[in-house]
Amino acid sequence: MNEGRPWWKTAVGYQIYPRSFFDTNGDGIGDLKGIIQKLDYLKSLGINVIWIGPFFKSPMDDGGYDVKDFLDVDPIFGKKEDAIELIHEAHARDIKVIMDLVLNHTSDEHPWFIEARKNRYSKYHNYYIWKDPKVTPEGKVLAPTNWQGYFGESAWTYDETAKQFYLHIFSKKMPDLNWEYKPLREAMYEVARHWLALGIDGFRMDAIAHLAKDLTFSDSLQPVGHRGITLDPTKFSSLPRLFDYLHEFKENVLKDYPHAVTIGEVGGNVSPEQSLDYAGYHRGPLNMVFNFDTCWENGAFGSEHKSDLEIATNVINLKQNFMKWYEQTQGQAWLPLYWLNHDHPRVVSQYGSILYRKASAKMLITTLLFLYGTPFLYNGEEIGMSNVDYEKLTQFKDVSALNYAREASQRLDEASILRFLRRTSRVNARTPFQWSSEPYAGFSTHEPYLAVNGNYPEVNLENQRHDPDSIFRYYQKAIALRQQEPWLSTVIEGTLELVDPLNPDVFAYRHLHHRSLLVISNFRAYETAFVIKDIVLGTLLHNYPQLVKKGLTLTLRAFETIVFEIETP
Ligand code: NOJ
Repeated sequence: MNEGRPWWKTAVGYQIYPRSFFDTNGDGIGDLKGIIQKLDYLKSLGINVIWIGPFFKSPMDDGGYDVKDFLDVDPIFGKKEDAIELIHEAHARDIKVIMDLVLNHTSDEHPWFIEARKNRYSKYHNYYIWKDPKVTPEGKVLAPTNWQGYFGESAWTYDETAKQFYLHIFSKKMPDLNWEYKPLREAMYEVARHWLALGIDGFRMDAIAHLAKDLTFSDSLQPVGHRGITLDPTKFSSLPRLFDYLHEFKENVLKDYPHAVTIGEVGGNVSPEQSLDYAGYHRGPLNMVFNFDTCWENGAFGSEHKSDLEIATNVINLKQNFMKWYEQTQGQAWLPLYWLNHDHPRVVSQYGSILYRKASAKMLITTLLFLYGTPFLYNGEEIGMSNVDYEKLTQFKDVSALNYAREASQRLDEASILRFLRRTSRVNARTPFQWSSEPYAGFSTHEPYLAVNGNYPEVNLENQRHDPDSIFRYYQKAIALRQQEPWLSTVIEGTLELVDPLNPDVFAYRHLHHRSLLVISNFRAYETAFVIKDIVLGTLLHNYPQLVKKGLTLTLRAFETIVFEIETP
């Protein structure tokens, strides 16, 4: 299944974080009408599928991933009719629409949970995962296990009404659903069918690896921290029952919508080999999985005690990570390709350099576009938006950042916490889109819910639209090149290989087919020499005006990138 060329293999995707994209009603929050207004802009960029982050009714504890009504639109985003109009208007422009499907949890304000905590005997109680407390001989009430969730807290919260603990592997306002309970599974299939019937072209399936839990509910044997808890993903990731659920989802939901695409977010704990159980052409119930292996190769993650100077991209690891996924999945599965989403820092700050914003942003998109898979850009990437310049911890309005800051304040001073969040926080990706140099970056007429990056007078779309040398214009060119034949066939059906894999500065690869490509990218701010061993037939894309070449040796300048056509060996 899905060998060949389903539509999503030839697409270039674009992720929209709706709260921060464009505000049309002047409340400081982006909305669905804002996305509709910008569809022509997106079309001009050259993308043909948008993934829209959650826009369902939500108390917004976690940016809308805490859903209280899966079938309705939150008033901050508009009305249900706006969602229908958006799908329609996107389709009118040949743009497909994927939405987030959150199957792992709901908000604690969802009517199911409200009923579940009130009444132990209602069916909704079974929709969630409840456990009695552990009680010590002294009568102290303890959580059922030592499991920690992804947002730094215990994965269990005691509910005074139910007199039980409920499981939540994310925020305590996001109780996990009990996928063992068939009526719950059917309720969730109904949600998916509802949106497909309205014309949605597929789903990015949030936190999909976690639907099945270790039902023995035994303590993790990993060492615990000072709070007696430990994050042990083996307790709730990729467990065997998960694959039964996903196959059932496919049979129940997708059989009527064979062209819908499903991309599961599997995060950091799934190996390329295991990914075939999710998305292998022959045995996987999904079409693709998003993994995080290529997201943290500058050592920023876990770098609390490091200065900015100690952070540098490990280019060898980065290349190997892309290749290990390619080698395992080639001919057997397809991949999404991306530098960042709404959970990661901005890629120009991470693998590029804000001192070389233009050159490095162009270099990064070039490197990504001709690899194996469907590229997904993240809103703002196409104008080189970078990490925040916030001066206060309170500006990081995000549940995971604030949980981290609270916990870290016991060991670190405020300046170190700030530095770490500016480097790693997902808030970096979430600041309002910088449309122009108008107040609030032209995003809204009202003060935005999250402060705009201070660099907007300089970094904004309006400045770049008509400048032929801008990052935006380069993105247009680069996307168009990838989308046109013969290059589209080369990236879909060709063979990928690294060139000089142990070069610590340069990411270079060949994509070989009837017509072949050589992509060379310098990931450094310094010059480096690179010897070309192929027969070059022409230059297809370049982020500097001329090549500096002596014989076979190129001198690559800061963040220089080139796509050559080469003779197929
Ligand atoms: C992954 C989403 O990308 C992230 O933003 C969210 O916090 C968690 N899943 C929980 O839904």
